[in-house]
Amino acid sequence: MTQSPLHQILDHANRPDPYPIYAELRKTPVHHEADGPYVISTYHEIRSLLHDPRLSSDVRHLASAAHDPLAESGQEEQTVLPPSFLRLDPPEHDRLRRMANRPFGPPHSPHTVDGMRQELHDIVSGLIDGIGDTGRIDLVDQFSYPFPVTVICRLLGVPREDEARFHGWADTIAASLDPDPDADPAERGKGAHDARMQLGMYLAGLIEERRKQPRDDMLSALATAEGPDGAMTTMELLSTAALLLIAGHETTVNLVTNGMLTLLRNPDVLRRLRAEPRLAVPVVEELLRFEPPVQLLPQRTPLTGIRIHGVTIPKGASVWLVLASGNRDPKRFQNPDRFDPDRRDVQHLGFGSGIHSCFGAPLARLEAQLALSELARRLENPRLLEDPPPYRQNAVLRGPRHLPIACDGIRP
Ligand code: HEM
Repeated sequence: MTQSPLHQILDHANRPDPYPIYAELRKTPVHHEADGPYVISTYHEIRSLLHDPRLSSDVRHLASAAHDPLAESGQEEQTVLPPSFLRLDPPEHDRLRRMANRPFGPPHSPHTVDGMRQELHDIVSGLIDGIGDTGRIDLVDQFSYPFPVTVICRLLGVPREDEARFHGWADTIAASLDPDPDADPAERGKGAHDARMQLGMYLAGLIEERRKQPRDDMLSALATAEGPDGAMTTMELLSTAALLLIAGHETTVNLVTNGMLTLLRNPDVLRRLRAEPRLAVPVVEELLRFEPPVQLLPQRTPLTGIRIHGVTIPKGASVWLVLASGNRDPKRFQNPDRFDPDRRDVQHLGFGSGIHSCFGAPLARLEAQLALSELARRLENPRLLEDPPPYRQNAVLRGPRHLPIACDGIRP
């Protein structure tokens, strides 16, 4: 029996190359299987829905019983973290995002990200210096994972030594984002619920410390801020901190790894990047189009019937927006399956679009630009040891679990 497109997307065997499935899906821009979600796969339709205020990010509006472990509701709200602003609609979304942004970006903190440039550079240099045996390097474990984790810990003020504690919780929560129709929802829900609870308790302890003794970090700023929007409640603060911690490291790892994999498959671009580090800016933009770390957004729902491409999506239905497919839509990008950093018009969907578009984008861009330009400059004659490499299970946050590479040495 042939699998449905949804099962094909979720099937781990297709993780190395899901793009032919998306090409097939785009023949029906609004695809609906009985009892399943409405899957949107073309660029203009995805973008228009991302800007449509009738499409909610709050799963409590979903009609189906499919319970989302990340957004507990009702009576549980007292014991588990409430939804973060990723899962809220205006006006709550806007208020919390504004407050989170005060210590992070313009207009109040225009220098936070750029001010980390030297620190990011030092972390990258330290990780490359520590590589050891160049005959077999796992780029994920030795570089792409520890780098963004260290960065988000520094930014938030979470002790890096605690990584062993929160790594497991973050992984469980990230895995629960995967809409696996074959998994037991109760089992997954419980796992994510427990992980969220433990992460919440851990962050509550840190926030308590920062309230008493503020430091120069984002947790302290959020815990002590009093702007025109007032202060976040403790529960809002916990959800925001958990969101930043998880979003800050479960995505960038894949951008850096997908980036190196793509460069090694395109040695001409790798050579150019080595000679011309400024090429890292268009390389990273094209990567966000070509191999986006967030492949699809599986939790949106209409607040009222929405008609799009001749189909009416009913209120409360589950909607998936396949960003990675929109990014390869030939109606929007010429030669979409070609990796081309010289592409002039690269308004990709890799960071989403509209009011929820990625909050951490300036940091993620800078991290990936520094990481890839330094890897290109310092690794001598790098090559892939496995192609395709082994992939993580997750279809939403897609990327290699390991990237075995070798090189002839490390340049100073
Ligand atoms: C390459 C790395 C990253 C990618 C590809 C990525 C991608 C995305 C995407 C696609 C969204 C939109 C979600 C939606 O519309 O439902 C999003 C939202 C978000 N991202 Fe990122 N992200 C990355 C890195 C980061 C980092 C480093 C941080 C934190 C510092 C971060 C924090 C957030 C937050 C807080 C939101 C929610 C925004 C909102 O709901 O208003 N992300 N990200």
